[in-house]
Amino acid sequence: MLKKSEAISKLKELSEIITKSREAYFNLNRSDITDQEYDHNISEYKKILSKYPELEDRYNVLDQVGVMPNSRFKKVQHLTPMYSLSNAFNNADVLNFLKQIRSFLDLSESENIDLVFEPKIDGLSLSLIYKNGTLFQALTRGDGLIGEDVTENARLIPDIPISIPIKIDTLEIRGEVYFPNSAFIELNAELKKKGSKTFSNPRNAASGTLRQFKSNKNRSKDLCFFAYSVGNASYHLADSQANLLKVFNDLGFKTNEIAKVFTSIKELLQYYEKVFAMRTKLNYDIDGIVYKVNDFRLQQRLGFRSSSPRWAIAHKFPAAMSITVIEDIEIQIGRTGTLSPVAKLKPVNIGGVIVSSATLHNRDFIRGFDNKGNRIRDGADIRKGDWVTVYRAGDVIPKIKDVDISKRNNASNSFVFPDFCPSCGAKVKIDNTDSAIRCYNMQHCEAQVIAGLKHFVSKKAFNIDGLGGRIIEEFYKKDLIQKPADFFRLQSKSKNGLNFIEFLGKGWGDKSLQNLFHSIEKAKFIKLDRFLFSLGIRHIGENAAQILAGYFGSWDNFYNAIKAGIKKNERQFLSEIEGVGQLMVTSLVGFFSDLKEIEKLEDLLNYVKIEDFIKLSKVKTAITDKKLVLTGTFNAFSRAELKSICERHGAKVLTSLSNNVDFLLVGQAPGSKVKKADELGIKRMHEEEFKVLIDYNL
Ligand code: IVH
Repeated sequence: MLKKSEAISKLKELSEIITKSREAYFNLNRSDITDQEYDHNISEYKKILSKYPELEDRYNVLDQVGVMPNSRFKKVQHLTPMYSLSNAFNNADVLNFLKQIRSFLDLSESENIDLVFEPKIDGLSLSLIYKNGTLFQALTRGDGLIGEDVTENARLIPDIPISIPIKIDTLEIRGEVYFPNSAFIELNAELKKKGSKTFSNPRNAASGTLRQFKSNKNRSKDLCFFAYSVGNASYHLADSQANLLKVFNDLGFKTNEIAKVFTSIKELLQYYEKVFAMRTKLNYDIDGIVYKVNDFRLQQRLGFRSSSPRWAIAHKFPAAMSITVIEDIEIQIGRTGTLSPVAKLKPVNIGGVIVSSATLHNRDFIRGFDNKGNRIRDGADIRKGDWVTVYRAGDVIPKIKDVDISKRNNASNSFVFPDFCPSCGAKVKIDNTDSAIRCYNMQHCEAQVIAGLKHFVSKKAFNIDGLGGRIIEEFYKKDLIQKPADFFRLQSKSKNGLNFIEFLGKGWGDKSLQNLFHSIEKAKFIKLDRFLFSLGIRHIGENAAQILAGYFGSWDNFYNAIKAGIKKNERQFLSEIEGVGQLMVTSLVGFFSDLKEIEKLEDLLNYVKIEDFIKLSKVKTAITDKKLVLTGTFNAFSRAELKSICERHGAKVLTSLSNNVDFLLVGQAPGSKVKKADELGIKRMHEEEFKVLIDYNL
């Protein structure tokens, strides 16, 4: 049995670990230890307390809000995905959003589109599932497809009705959970008094409270909820967003009191200014305004992009700015060899976040020109030692707004962009396609190889937890990982007698190593789009990877087609895919013709299991799995809408005719394609026939 003095020091040690991991989770959004370790620490802590009750939770650990949520809450798949919103940072972006809607729907300037204005509350989105009018499940957003089941805690929130008067089978009501500012101030005062850790903002307090494993009635009753959308069946409840909000009120939900419908965009933007000016007077934090197309019929026609609706946008409040000095200018080399200048700043607080570097984009930006060669900042260049205004918009890397040359040291010199790659020493060249300065030494440039490995494990690719940039560099320099497949051989090296912990030195323990092996093991199962993205092929970003995955469906289809194409020296099968441009085609062909790349790829394929790309909510109709080509203009649809409809029905739209095309969809004033289709014996279809075929009735 522990002596009392030992018990005290053990309690102290455990409390520090527990508090640190909670803080990492709730305030930094990071998991430093596994759930099991966390649970183990808590039970050790409790065990000691049970032996020495007089030490009664000295460090207030058991009283702190928040637990590690991962395995504690059941993971549940959303019935309909929870999308996010694309952003507008200024009025021009909002006008452009409307312009794109008009173009998609083929509407003229004179035709009106009503927009609903709703504040964007800085809380957590929650999906409430009602079955036959009774609250059945409450799910957090999670990754948009799978959320955490927080039903028990949600039941304690006064704004969430346990039963509603609509008794349909399943109804998903969505909205935002938030912690009001006044309650947040009280909570933190209370926590401080007890010597417990406080929350850094109301959002974290809301997240901590909603995800407590042991519900805390007192605290949960402070949480609030605004309803703003329906996951399924919205069109049955109302015909427009504004009416839906009214229906929500009738059902017993709160909706936001600032929400309003606008017919005139000018008035909407004026209201934005007004709400921006009064935002600090509200009892909840808002970080922008959401604009939604009011008419549900139009919403339905507009549909969704891969992760956001076309019918809504978040107009973000202006970014926070601060002034600081550039201490140094460094050159970073990306995975495709681009040399990117980065300003190392004297650390400065920008809207609550400490910032110590900002992007300088490229050589032209430093010299005072934009991408089109126009002067920016009155042509002033940027130098080491300069005073600059830095801003943060969203979560992206901070940017430089302006430079104050009146404060410049007369002895300073213009920045000289290197002629040779700082990593491998190769001569750099300007890339004519995008004016970037690049190192073309590719596979022999250490910086590029390391950047490629970092990309491979990054969140949107293999998403391997516990492999930060520094660790990858260490692995690379110690010759443990040179190419992607090496990640999957790490564990066997360990089994073959390599003592990792000794080899890697400080910072590594048994636990951290086991966790890493576990994440690597888990990552072997990967979806096709992520896999394509992970390969780091130039011009094949997230979006292009999704287009390719959607088109080919499975890795085998894709790989066989590209191998056959290269063998026959054919590119048409790629260039005919809507959304795949010439640069992408050249880059894909280049990658898959490069024997070194193929060797690395084949090696990798021995370890991974690539899952087929599954399209969500595909409607099955007569055009499903068919290939179509469009010609001419259409009465009821723009090209973009037609393409989106075809995709929703699981059909493929190609840009040119060949033997494997099923239909030519013929609009008004068609081109030469009609003749070509006749020659190839491809069936022609007119707009009205098409509408009947897909059962179009909007
Ligand atoms: S609509 C498909 N309305 O913003 C539409 N979202 O980036 C999805 N949010 O995760 C959301 N206030 O947590 C909508 N009035 C509002 C909102 C709102 C806050 C959050 C929500 C979502 C994120 C979208």
